[in-house]
Amino acid sequence: MPDRLTVDFAPLNSPLETTAAVLAAQDLVFGPFVRDLNSKADGALLRAAEAADFKGKARTQIELLAPSGLKAARLHMIGAGATAQAKDADWITLGGYALGQLSQRKGEAASLVVDVADIGDRAAADVAADLAYGALLRSYSFTKYRTRRREQGEEAGAEPARNGLSRLVVHVRDADGARAAFARRSAVAAGVFLARDLVNEPANVLGPEEFAEKARELARTGLSVEVLDVDALRALKMDALLAVGQGSVRPSRVAVMQWHGAKSKRAKPLCFVGKGVCFDTGGISIKPAQGMEDMKGDMGGAACVTGLMQALAERRAAVNAVGLIGLVENMPSGSAQRPGDIVTSMSGQTIEVLNTDAEGRLVLADVLWYAQDRFKPKLIVDLATLTGAIMVALGKEYAGLFANDDKLANDLIEAGEATGEKVWRMPLAPAYDKLIDSRNADVKNIGGRFGGAITAAQFIQRFIKDTPWAHLDVAGVAMDSTKSEISQSWASGWGVRLLDRMVADKHERGEK
Ligand code: BES
Ligand code: MN
Ligand code: ZN
Repeated sequence: MPDRLTVDFAPLNSPLETTAAVLAAQDLVFGPFVRDLNSKADGALLRAAEAADFKGKARTQIELLAPSGLKAARLHMIGAGATAQAKDADWITLGGYALGQLSQRKGEAASLVVDVADIGDRAAADVAADLAYGALLRSYSFTKYRTRRREQGEEAGAEPARNGLSRLVVHVRDADGARAAFARRSAVAAGVFLARDLVNEPANVLGPEEFAEKARELARTGLSVEVLDVDALRALKMDALLAVGQGSVRPSRVAVMQWHGAKSKRAKPLCFVGKGVCFDTGGISIKPAQGMEDMKGDMGGAACVTGLMQALAERRAAVNAVGLIGLVENMPSGSAQRPGDIVTSMSGQTIEVLNTDAEGRLVLADVLWYAQDRFKPKLIVDLATLTGAIMVALGKEYAGLFANDDKLANDLIEAGEATGEKVWRMPLAPAYDKLIDSRNADVKNIGGRFGGAITAAQFIQRFIKDTPWAHLDVAGVAMDSTKSEISQSWASGWGVRLLDRMVADKHERGEK
Protein backbone atom coordinates (compact mmCIF):
# COMPACT_ATOMS: atom_id res chain seq x y z
CA MET A 1 0.00 0.00 0.00
CA PRO A 2 1.18 3.52 -0.69
CA ASP A 3 1.57 5.90 2.19
CA ARG A 4 -1.86 7.37 2.37
CA LEU A 5 -2.64 10.73 3.79
CA THR A 6 -5.87 10.96 5.73
CA VAL A 7 -7.74 14.13 4.92
CA ASP A 8 -10.42 15.65 7.05
CA PHE A 9 -12.30 18.90 7.23
CA ALA A 10 -13.10 21.04 10.27
CA PRO A 11 -14.79 24.39 10.84
CA LEU A 12 -12.54 27.45 10.92
CA ASN A 13 -12.79 27.95 14.65
CA SER A 14 -11.95 24.39 15.71
CA PRO A 15 -8.57 23.96 17.45
CA LEU A 16 -5.51 23.95 15.19
CA GLU A 17 -2.92 21.18 15.17
CA THR A 18 0.55 22.12 16.44
CA THR A 19 1.74 22.46 12.86
CA ALA A 20 -0.55 24.73 10.91
CA ALA A 21 -0.60 26.68 7.69
CA VAL A 22 -2.69 29.63 6.64
CA LEU A 23 -3.19 30.69 3.05
CA ALA A 24 -2.18 34.22 2.21
CA ALA A 25 -3.50 35.71 -1.00
CA GLN A 26 -1.36 38.09 -3.06
CA ASP A 27 -0.55 41.33 -1.17
CA LEU A 28 -1.40 39.56 2.08
CA VAL A 29 -5.13 39.76 1.85
CA PHE A 30 -6.59 37.60 4.60
CA GLY A 31 -10.08 36.65 5.65
CA PRO A 32 -11.48 37.67 9.05
CA PHE A 33 -10.48 34.46 10.82
CA VAL A 34 -6.79 34.81 9.95
CA ARG A 35 -6.89 38.54 10.72
CA ASP A 36 -8.13 37.51 14.14
CA LEU A 37 -5.27 34.98 14.50
CA ASN A 38 -2.88 37.77 13.68
CA SER A 39 -4.34 39.98 16.40
CA LYS A 40 -4.14 37.13 18.92
CA ALA A 41 -0.47 36.79 18.02
CA ASP A 42 -0.06 40.50 18.54
CA GLY A 43 0.45 41.17 14.83
CA ALA A 44 3.22 38.56 14.47
CA LEU A 45 1.95 37.23 11.15
CA LEU A 46 2.12 40.54 9.35
CA ARG A 47 5.37 41.53 11.03
CA ALA A 48 6.99 38.24 10.00
CA ALA A 49 5.74 38.71 6.45
CA GLU A 50 7.18 42.20 6.38
CA ALA A 51 10.51 41.04 7.80
CA ALA A 52 10.80 38.23 5.24
CA ASP A 53 9.50 40.35 2.37
CA PHE A 54 6.74 37.79 1.91
CA LYS A 55 3.97 39.04 -0.37
CA GLY A 56 1.76 35.98 -0.74
CA LYS A 57 2.91 35.09 -4.22
CA ALA A 58 1.85 31.63 -5.33
CA ARG A 59 4.22 28.92 -4.20
CA THR A 60 6.21 30.97 -1.73
CA GLN A 61 6.03 30.55 2.01
CA ILE A 62 7.45 31.59 5.35
CA GLU A 63 7.47 29.76 8.63
CA LEU A 64 6.96 31.27 12.10
CA LEU A 65 8.22 29.29 15.07
CA ALA A 66 6.32 29.33 18.36
CA PRO A 67 4.40 32.54 17.67
CA SER A 68 3.39 33.99 21.03
CA GLY A 69 -0.31 34.02 21.75
CA LEU A 70 -1.01 31.02 19.50
CA LYS A 71 -0.93 27.32 20.34
CA ALA A 72 0.73 26.34 17.05
CA ALA A 73 4.39 25.40 17.42
CA ARG A 74 4.95 26.15 13.77
CA LEU A 75 2.82 28.37 11.62
CA HIS A 76 3.40 28.49 7.88
CA MET A 77 2.05 31.23 5.72
CA ILE A 78 1.57 29.84 2.25
CA GLY A 79 1.29 32.21 -0.68
CA ALA A 80 -1.85 31.62 -2.72
CA GLY A 81 -1.20 34.24 -5.38
CA ALA A 82 -3.99 35.96 -7.28
CA THR A 83 -6.84 33.94 -5.82
CA ALA A 84 -9.65 35.77 -7.61
CA GLN A 85 -8.45 34.35 -10.94
CA ALA A 86 -7.38 30.92 -9.68
CA LYS A 87 -8.76 27.90 -11.52
CA ASP A 88 -9.27 24.52 -9.95
CA ALA A 89 -5.92 23.28 -11.27
CA ASP A 90 -4.24 26.20 -9.44
CA TRP A 91 -5.87 25.24 -6.15
CA ILE A 92 -4.90 21.60 -6.64
CA THR A 93 -1.29 22.58 -7.31
CA LEU A 94 -1.32 24.85 -4.27
CA GLY A 95 -2.62 22.01 -2.10
CA GLY A 96 0.28 19.87 -3.28
CA TYR A 97 2.74 22.67 -2.56
CA ALA A 98 1.31 23.21 0.92
CA LEU A 99 1.62 19.52 1.75
CA GLY A 100 5.20 19.52 0.53
CA GLN A 101 6.00 22.40 2.90
CA LEU A 102 4.15 20.89 5.84
CA SER A 103 5.90 17.55 5.33
CA GLN A 104 9.42 18.96 5.53
CA ARG A 105 9.49 17.88 9.13
CA LYS A 106 8.09 14.74 10.59
CA GLY A 107 4.72 15.25 12.15
CA GLU A 108 1.54 13.41 12.82
CA ALA A 109 -1.01 15.94 11.69
CA ALA A 110 -1.23 19.47 10.39
CA SER A 111 -3.93 22.05 9.86
CA LEU A 112 -4.47 24.04 6.69
CA VAL A 113 -6.59 27.12 7.22
CA VAL A 114 -8.57 28.21 4.18
CA ASP A 115 -9.89 31.68 4.87
CA VAL A 116 -9.22 33.55 1.67
CA ALA A 117 -11.28 36.67 1.09
CA ASP A 118 -11.65 36.69 -2.69
CA ILE A 119 -11.85 33.38 -4.50
CA GLY A 120 -13.66 34.56 -7.62
CA ASP A 121 -16.90 32.75 -8.32
CA ARG A 122 -15.82 29.46 -6.74
CA ALA A 123 -17.45 28.14 -3.60
CA ALA A 124 -15.15 27.98 -0.57
CA ALA A 125 -16.11 24.32 -0.13
CA ASP A 126 -14.87 23.50 -3.66
CA VAL A 127 -11.66 25.43 -3.11
CA ALA A 128 -11.03 23.55 0.14
CA ALA A 129 -11.80 20.24 -1.58
CA ASP A 130 -9.37 21.04 -4.42
CA LEU A 131 -6.63 21.99 -1.95
CA ALA A 132 -7.17 18.73 -0.08
CA TYR A 133 -7.18 16.82 -3.39
CA GLY A 134 -3.82 18.30 -4.39
CA ALA A 135 -2.37 17.49 -0.98
CA LEU A 136 -3.62 13.93 -1.22
CA LEU A 137 -2.16 13.45 -4.72
CA ARG A 138 1.17 14.82 -3.48
CA SER A 139 1.29 12.49 -0.49
CA TYR A 140 1.72 9.31 -2.56
CA SER A 141 4.96 7.40 -2.39
CA PHE A 142 5.89 3.85 -3.31
CA THR A 143 7.81 2.46 -0.36
CA LYS A 144 6.51 -1.07 0.08
CA TYR A 145 9.86 -2.68 -0.72
CA ARG A 146 12.01 -0.38 1.43
CA THR A 147 12.16 -2.61 4.51
CA ARG A 148 15.23 -0.98 6.03
CA ARG A 149 13.57 2.34 6.51
CA ARG A 150 10.95 0.77 8.73
CA GLU A 151 11.37 1.69 12.33
CA GLN A 152 12.67 -1.05 14.58
CA GLY A 153 10.07 -3.09 16.35
CA GLU A 154 7.30 -2.32 13.91
CA GLU A 155 5.38 -5.34 12.78
CA ALA A 156 5.66 -6.50 9.18
CA GLY A 157 3.38 -4.54 6.92
CA ALA A 158 3.49 -1.47 9.10
CA GLU A 159 3.94 1.83 7.33
CA PRO A 160 7.56 2.73 6.81
CA ALA A 161 8.87 5.65 8.77
CA ARG A 162 8.98 8.77 6.67
CA ASN A 163 9.14 12.50 7.01
CA GLY A 164 5.57 12.97 6.02
CA LEU A 165 2.26 13.76 7.55
CA SER A 166 -0.31 11.15 8.24
CA ARG A 167 -3.22 13.53 8.60
CA LEU A 168 -4.21 16.87 7.14
CA VAL A 169 -7.13 18.81 8.57
CA VAL A 170 -8.48 21.47 6.25
CA HIS A 171 -10.20 24.22 8.21
CA VAL A 172 -12.90 25.99 6.25
CA ARG A 173 -16.15 27.72 7.08
CA ASP A 174 -18.29 25.14 5.26
CA ALA A 175 -16.55 21.96 6.43
CA ASP A 176 -19.50 19.70 5.61
CA GLY A 177 -19.79 21.10 2.10
CA ALA A 178 -16.06 20.64 1.58
CA ARG A 179 -16.20 17.05 2.82
CA ALA A 180 -19.00 16.28 0.37
CA ALA A 181 -17.16 17.94 -2.52
CA PHE A 182 -14.02 16.03 -1.62
CA ALA A 183 -15.67 12.59 -1.85
CA ARG A 184 -15.60 12.35 -5.64
CA ARG A 185 -12.10 13.81 -5.81
CA SER A 186 -10.94 11.23 -3.32
CA ALA A 187 -12.36 8.47 -5.57
CA VAL A 188 -10.37 9.85 -8.50
CA ALA A 189 -7.22 10.13 -6.36
CA ALA A 190 -7.62 6.47 -5.42
CA GLY A 191 -7.75 5.67 -9.15
CA VAL A 192 -4.57 7.69 -9.71
CA PHE A 193 -2.87 5.82 -6.86
CA LEU A 194 -3.93 2.47 -8.28
CA ALA A 195 -2.43 3.45 -11.65
CA ARG A 196 0.79 4.65 -9.98
CA ASP A 197 1.07 1.45 -7.92
CA LEU A 198 0.60 -0.75 -10.99
CA VAL A 199 3.29 1.11 -12.93
CA ASN A 200 5.75 1.25 -10.01
CA GLU A 201 5.35 -2.45 -9.25
CA PRO A 202 8.26 -4.49 -10.68
CA ALA A 203 7.56 -7.00 -13.44
CA ASN A 204 8.60 -10.03 -11.40
CA VAL A 205 5.66 -9.25 -9.14
CA LEU A 206 3.20 -7.92 -11.71
CA GLY A 207 2.93 -10.06 -14.84
CA PRO A 208 -0.12 -10.47 -17.06
CA GLU A 209 -1.87 -12.88 -14.69
CA GLU A 210 -1.20 -10.81 -11.60
CA PHE A 211 -2.36 -7.63 -13.36
CA ALA A 212 -5.54 -9.41 -14.50
CA GLU A 213 -6.10 -10.46 -10.88
CA LYS A 214 -5.86 -6.79 -9.79
CA ALA A 215 -8.51 -5.97 -12.38
CA ARG A 216 -10.69 -8.82 -11.17
CA GLU A 217 -10.51 -7.48 -7.61
CA LEU A 218 -12.24 -4.31 -8.82
CA ALA A 219 -15.48 -6.27 -8.92
CA ARG A 220 -15.83 -5.11 -5.28
CA THR A 221 -16.41 -1.56 -6.55
CA GLY A 222 -19.39 -2.62 -8.66
CA LEU A 223 -17.57 -3.15 -11.96
CA SER A 224 -18.28 -6.35 -13.85
CA VAL A 225 -14.93 -7.84 -14.69
CA GLU A 226 -14.06 -10.67 -17.06
CA VAL A 227 -10.61 -12.08 -17.66
CA LEU A 228 -9.96 -13.81 -20.99
CA ASP A 229 -7.27 -16.49 -20.82
CA VAL A 230 -5.14 -17.83 -23.66
CA ASP A 231 -7.75 -20.36 -24.78
CA ALA A 232 -10.40 -17.65 -24.94
CA LEU A 233 -8.04 -15.33 -26.83
CA ARG A 234 -7.25 -18.13 -29.29
CA ALA A 235 -10.95 -18.77 -29.82
CA LEU A 236 -11.39 -15.07 -30.56
CA LYS A 237 -8.47 -15.22 -33.02
CA MET A 238 -6.43 -12.57 -31.24
CA ASP A 239 -3.29 -13.96 -32.80
CA ALA A 240 -1.46 -10.63 -33.04
CA LEU A 241 -1.69 -10.14 -29.27
CA LEU A 242 -0.85 -13.78 -28.62
CA ALA A 243 2.22 -13.56 -30.88
CA VAL A 244 3.69 -10.89 -28.59
CA GLY A 245 3.20 -13.04 -25.50
CA GLN A 246 4.33 -16.33 -27.02
CA GLY A 247 7.96 -15.89 -26.01
CA SER A 248 7.08 -15.59 -22.33
CA VAL A 249 6.41 -18.40 -19.87
CA ARG A 250 3.73 -16.16 -18.40
CA PRO A 251 0.45 -16.49 -20.28
CA SER A 252 -1.26 -13.48 -21.84
CA ARG A 253 -4.57 -12.11 -20.63
CA VAL A 254 -7.19 -9.57 -21.65
CA ALA A 255 -9.30 -8.02 -18.89
CA VAL A 256 -12.65 -6.37 -19.57
CA MET A 257 -14.10 -4.04 -16.93
CA GLN A 258 -17.63 -2.76 -17.42
CA TRP A 259 -19.35 0.06 -15.60
CA HIS A 260 -23.08 0.61 -16.12
CA GLY A 261 -23.90 4.01 -14.66
CA ALA A 262 -26.08 5.61 -17.34
CA LYS A 263 -29.85 5.78 -16.97
CA SER A 264 -30.17 3.26 -19.76
CA LYS A 265 -28.08 0.15 -19.33
CA ARG A 266 -28.19 -0.23 -23.08
CA ALA A 267 -26.79 3.19 -23.95
CA LYS A 268 -23.62 2.76 -26.04
CA PRO A 269 -20.56 2.77 -23.82
CA LEU A 270 -17.37 4.78 -23.94
CA CYS A 271 -14.48 2.37 -24.45
CA PHE A 272 -11.01 2.84 -22.96
CA VAL A 273 -8.28 0.52 -24.20
CA GLY A 274 -4.83 0.20 -22.65
CA LYS A 275 -1.52 -1.29 -23.73
CA GLY A 276 -0.44 -3.63 -20.95
CA VAL A 277 3.02 -4.90 -21.80
CA CYS A 278 4.06 -5.93 -18.29
CA PHE A 279 7.67 -6.02 -19.42
CA ASP A 280 9.07 -5.09 -22.82
CA THR A 281 12.51 -6.54 -23.49
CA GLY A 282 11.95 -5.88 -27.19
CA GLY A 283 11.75 -9.63 -27.81
CA ILE A 284 14.17 -11.04 -30.40
CA SER A 285 14.73 -7.42 -31.58
CA ILE A 286 16.08 -6.98 -28.07
CA LYS A 287 16.58 -3.59 -26.46
CA PRO A 288 19.93 -2.37 -25.14
CA ALA A 289 20.57 -3.05 -21.43
CA GLN A 290 20.83 0.63 -20.52
CA GLY A 291 17.52 1.76 -19.08
CA MET A 292 15.72 -1.46 -19.89
CA GLU A 293 14.44 -1.61 -16.30
CA ASP A 294 12.05 1.21 -17.17
CA MET A 295 10.15 -1.21 -19.38
CA LYS A 296 8.36 -2.50 -16.28
CA GLY A 297 6.23 0.59 -16.91
CA ASP A 298 5.21 -0.44 -20.42
CA MET A 299 1.77 -1.19 -19.05
CA GLY A 300 1.13 2.48 -18.20
CA GLY A 301 -1.79 2.68 -20.62
CA ALA A 302 -3.45 -0.34 -19.05
CA ALA A 303 -2.75 1.02 -15.57
CA CYS A 304 -4.49 4.28 -16.47
CA VAL A 305 -7.52 2.46 -17.85
CA THR A 306 -7.73 0.34 -14.69
CA GLY A 307 -7.40 3.36 -12.39
CA LEU A 308 -9.99 5.23 -14.43
CA MET A 309 -12.50 2.37 -14.26
CA GLN A 310 -12.06 2.16 -10.49
CA ALA A 311 -12.57 5.92 -10.20
CA LEU A 312 -15.73 5.90 -12.36
CA ALA A 313 -17.18 3.07 -10.28
CA GLU A 314 -16.24 4.57 -6.93
CA ARG A 315 -17.74 7.92 -7.75
CA ARG A 316 -20.76 6.25 -9.35
CA ALA A 317 -20.32 8.06 -12.66
CA ALA A 318 -23.52 8.53 -14.68
CA VAL A 319 -22.15 6.88 -17.79
CA ASN A 320 -21.64 3.48 -19.38
CA ALA A 321 -17.97 2.74 -19.84
CA VAL A 322 -15.82 -0.27 -20.64
CA GLY A 323 -12.11 -0.61 -19.92
CA LEU A 324 -10.20 -3.22 -21.90
CA ILE A 325 -6.54 -4.03 -21.27
CA GLY A 326 -4.25 -6.28 -23.28
CA LEU A 327 -1.76 -7.92 -20.89
CA VAL A 328 1.37 -9.61 -22.25
CA GLU A 329 5.07 -9.96 -21.56
CA ASN A 330 7.43 -9.40 -24.50
CA MET A 331 10.38 -11.79 -24.06
CA PRO A 332 13.06 -13.33 -26.27
CA SER A 333 13.08 -17.11 -26.10
CA GLY A 334 12.91 -20.26 -28.20
CA SER A 335 9.18 -19.76 -28.53
CA ALA A 336 9.31 -16.01 -29.24
CA GLN A 337 8.12 -14.57 -32.53
CA ARG A 338 10.80 -13.72 -35.08
CA PRO A 339 11.36 -10.66 -37.26
CA GLY A 340 9.69 -11.47 -40.56
CA ASP A 341 6.87 -13.52 -39.04
CA ILE A 342 3.45 -12.85 -40.49
CA VAL A 343 0.48 -13.04 -38.12
CA THR A 344 -3.23 -12.77 -38.78
CA SER A 345 -4.97 -10.32 -36.46
CA MET A 346 -8.52 -10.74 -35.16
CA SER A 347 -9.67 -8.30 -37.86
CA GLY A 348 -8.42 -10.68 -40.56
CA GLN A 349 -5.68 -8.28 -41.65
CA THR A 350 -2.22 -9.85 -41.86
CA ILE A 351 0.74 -8.15 -40.18
CA GLU A 352 4.39 -8.57 -41.08
CA VAL A 353 6.38 -8.27 -37.85
CA LEU A 354 9.60 -6.64 -38.98
CA ASN A 355 10.65 -5.60 -35.48
CA THR A 356 9.46 -7.51 -32.42
CA ASP A 357 10.05 -4.38 -30.32
CA ALA A 358 7.12 -2.66 -32.07
CA GLU A 359 4.84 -4.94 -30.05
CA GLY A 360 2.37 -2.56 -28.45
CA ARG A 361 0.56 -1.92 -31.71
CA LEU A 362 0.03 -5.68 -32.21
CA VAL A 363 -1.62 -5.88 -28.81
CA LEU A 364 -3.78 -2.82 -29.46
CA ALA A 365 -4.80 -4.04 -32.93
CA ASP A 366 -6.62 -7.03 -31.46
CA VAL A 367 -8.03 -5.42 -28.32
CA LEU A 368 -9.34 -2.43 -30.29
CA TRP A 369 -10.96 -4.73 -32.84
CA TYR A 370 -12.55 -6.76 -30.07
CA ALA A 371 -13.81 -3.59 -28.32
CA GLN A 372 -15.58 -2.38 -31.48
CA ASP A 373 -16.89 -5.80 -32.41
CA ARG A 374 -18.38 -6.54 -29.02
CA PHE A 375 -19.42 -3.16 -27.60
CA LYS A 376 -20.23 -0.94 -30.62
CA PRO A 377 -18.93 1.98 -28.55
CA LYS A 378 -19.90 5.64 -28.76
CA LEU A 379 -16.17 6.40 -28.85
CA ILE A 380 -12.84 4.78 -28.13
CA VAL A 381 -9.77 6.23 -26.45
CA ASP A 382 -6.66 4.10 -26.32
CA LEU A 383 -3.60 4.81 -24.20
CA ALA A 384 -0.20 3.29 -24.83
CA THR A 385 3.45 3.80 -23.95
CA LEU A 386 3.88 3.22 -27.64
CA THR A 387 6.95 4.96 -29.01
CA GLY A 388 10.22 6.57 -28.01
CA ALA A 389 9.57 8.84 -30.99
CA ILE A 390 6.76 10.69 -29.20
CA MET A 391 9.32 11.81 -26.59
CA VAL A 392 11.61 13.04 -29.34
CA ALA A 393 8.69 15.09 -30.69
CA LEU A 394 7.06 16.38 -27.51
CA GLY A 395 9.41 15.74 -24.61
CA LYS A 396 7.84 14.79 -21.31
CA GLU A 397 5.29 17.58 -20.94
CA TYR A 398 2.55 16.64 -23.40
CA ALA A 399 1.18 13.28 -24.45
CA GLY A 400 0.72 12.76 -28.18
CA LEU A 401 -2.89 12.82 -29.34
CA PHE A 402 -4.02 11.28 -32.61
CA ALA A 403 -7.69 11.24 -33.54
CA ASN A 404 -10.06 10.60 -36.42
CA ASP A 405 -12.63 12.95 -34.87
CA ASP A 406 -12.23 16.68 -34.13
CA LYS A 407 -14.86 16.82 -31.42
CA LEU A 408 -13.23 14.02 -29.45
CA ALA A 409 -9.78 15.55 -30.00
CA ASN A 410 -10.96 18.94 -28.75
CA ASP A 411 -12.72 17.43 -25.73
CA LEU A 412 -9.44 15.79 -24.75
CA ILE A 413 -7.44 18.97 -25.30
CA GLU A 414 -9.92 20.88 -23.13
CA ALA A 415 -9.81 18.29 -20.35
CA GLY A 416 -6.02 18.38 -20.61
CA GLU A 417 -5.94 22.14 -20.04
CA ALA A 418 -8.33 21.82 -17.10
CA THR A 419 -6.40 19.05 -15.34
CA GLY A 420 -2.85 19.86 -16.38
CA GLU A 421 -2.54 16.45 -18.07
CA LYS A 422 -1.88 18.05 -21.42
CA VAL A 423 -2.17 16.52 -24.87
CA TRP A 424 -0.86 17.83 -28.19
CA ARG A 425 -2.55 16.84 -31.41
CA MET A 426 -0.40 15.14 -34.03
CA PRO A 427 -1.29 14.47 -37.67
CA LEU A 428 -2.74 11.42 -39.39
CA ALA A 429 -2.70 11.34 -43.20
CA PRO A 430 -2.75 8.91 -46.12
CA ALA A 431 0.87 9.76 -47.00
CA TYR A 432 1.97 8.47 -43.57
CA ASP A 433 -0.27 5.45 -43.90
CA LYS A 434 1.53 4.42 -47.08
CA LEU A 435 4.74 4.02 -45.08
CA ILE A 436 3.39 0.91 -43.37
CA ASP A 437 2.25 -0.94 -46.50
CA SER A 438 4.01 -4.29 -46.54
CA ARG A 439 5.48 -6.24 -49.42
CA ASN A 440 4.39 -9.58 -47.98
CA ALA A 441 1.31 -8.83 -45.90
CA ASP A 442 -1.43 -6.22 -45.48
CA VAL A 443 0.61 -4.06 -43.13
CA LYS A 444 4.05 -4.03 -41.52
CA ASN A 445 4.66 -3.08 -37.92
CA ILE A 446 7.36 -0.44 -38.47
CA GLY A 447 7.38 2.54 -40.80
CA GLY A 448 10.99 3.54 -41.25
CA ARG A 449 13.20 6.18 -39.73
CA PHE A 450 10.99 9.25 -39.58
CA GLY A 451 7.71 10.08 -37.87
CA GLY A 452 7.79 6.97 -35.68
CA ALA A 453 4.93 8.04 -33.39
CA ILE A 454 2.80 8.88 -36.42
CA THR A 455 3.37 5.63 -38.30
CA ALA A 456 2.57 3.78 -35.07
CA ALA A 457 -0.73 5.68 -34.85
CA GLN A 458 -1.45 4.98 -38.53
CA PHE A 459 -0.94 1.30 -37.82
CA ILE A 460 -3.51 1.42 -35.03
CA GLN A 461 -5.95 3.33 -37.20
CA ARG A 462 -6.03 0.43 -39.63
CA PHE A 463 -7.91 -1.45 -36.93
CA ILE A 464 -10.51 1.25 -36.33
CA LYS A 465 -13.76 1.08 -38.28
CA ASP A 466 -15.91 4.22 -38.20
CA THR A 467 -15.97 4.79 -34.45
CA PRO A 468 -14.78 8.18 -33.14
CA TRP A 469 -11.34 7.25 -31.86
CA ALA A 470 -8.40 8.89 -30.16
CA HIS A 471 -5.00 7.43 -29.45
CA LEU A 472 -2.80 8.82 -26.68
CA ASP A 473 0.89 7.97 -26.88
CA VAL A 474 1.86 8.27 -23.22
CA ALA A 475 5.46 7.00 -23.39
CA GLY A 476 6.76 10.36 -22.16
CA VAL A 477 4.28 11.04 -19.39
CA ALA A 478 3.29 7.74 -17.77
CA MET A 479 6.64 6.82 -16.26
CA ASP A 480 9.97 8.38 -15.34
CA SER A 481 7.79 11.44 -14.92
CA THR A 482 8.71 15.02 -14.30
CA LYS A 483 8.17 15.71 -10.60
CA SER A 484 5.42 18.18 -9.86
CA GLU A 485 3.63 19.66 -6.87
CA ILE A 486 1.13 16.83 -7.06
CA SER A 487 3.35 13.92 -8.02
CA GLN A 488 6.79 13.01 -6.75
CA SER A 489 6.49 9.47 -8.04
CA TRP A 490 8.30 7.74 -10.92
CA ALA A 491 4.87 6.62 -12.06
CA SER A 492 2.56 9.60 -12.47
CA GLY A 493 -0.79 7.85 -12.86
CA TRP A 494 -1.13 10.08 -15.92
CA GLY A 495 -4.49 10.08 -17.70
CA VAL A 496 -6.84 9.06 -14.90
CA ARG A 497 -7.68 12.68 -14.07
CA LEU A 498 -7.74 13.66 -17.76
CA LEU A 499 -10.22 11.00 -18.80
CA ASP A 500 -12.31 11.27 -15.66
CA ARG A 501 -12.65 14.97 -16.43
CA MET A 502 -13.62 14.39 -20.05
CA VAL A 503 -16.23 11.85 -18.98
CA ALA A 504 -17.64 14.16 -16.32
CA ASP A 505 -17.74 17.29 -18.48
CA LYS A 506 -18.82 15.79 -21.81
CA HIS A 507 -20.69 12.56 -21.14
CA GLU A 508 -22.48 12.77 -17.81
CA ARG A 509 -24.37 16.00 -18.25
CA GLY A 510 -28.10 15.35 -18.51
CA GLU A 511 -27.56 11.82 -17.29
CA LYS A 512 -28.08 12.59 -13.60
N1 BES B 1 7.52 0.41 -25.13
C1 BES B 1 8.28 0.92 -26.20
C2 BES B 1 8.23 2.45 -26.29
C3 BES B 1 8.82 3.18 -25.13
C4 BES B 1 10.16 3.55 -25.16
C5 BES B 1 8.06 3.56 -24.05
C6 BES B 1 10.72 4.24 -24.10
C7 BES B 1 8.62 4.28 -23.00
C8 BES B 1 9.94 4.61 -23.03
C9 BES B 1 7.77 0.35 -27.52
O1 BES B 1 7.27 -0.92 -27.46
C10 BES B 1 8.93 0.33 -28.46
O2 BES B 1 9.84 -0.40 -28.21
N2 BES B 1 8.87 1.13 -29.52
C11 BES B 1 9.90 1.19 -30.45
C12 BES B 1 9.27 1.12 -31.83
C13 BES B 1 10.26 0.91 -32.95
C14 BES B 1 10.86 -0.48 -32.85
C15 BES B 1 9.54 1.08 -34.26
C16 BES B 1 10.64 2.51 -30.25
O3 BES B 1 10.01 3.51 -29.92
O4 BES B 1 11.86 2.52 -30.38
MN1 MN C 1 8.78 -2.39 -27.64
ZN1 ZN D 1 6.52 -1.53 -25.63
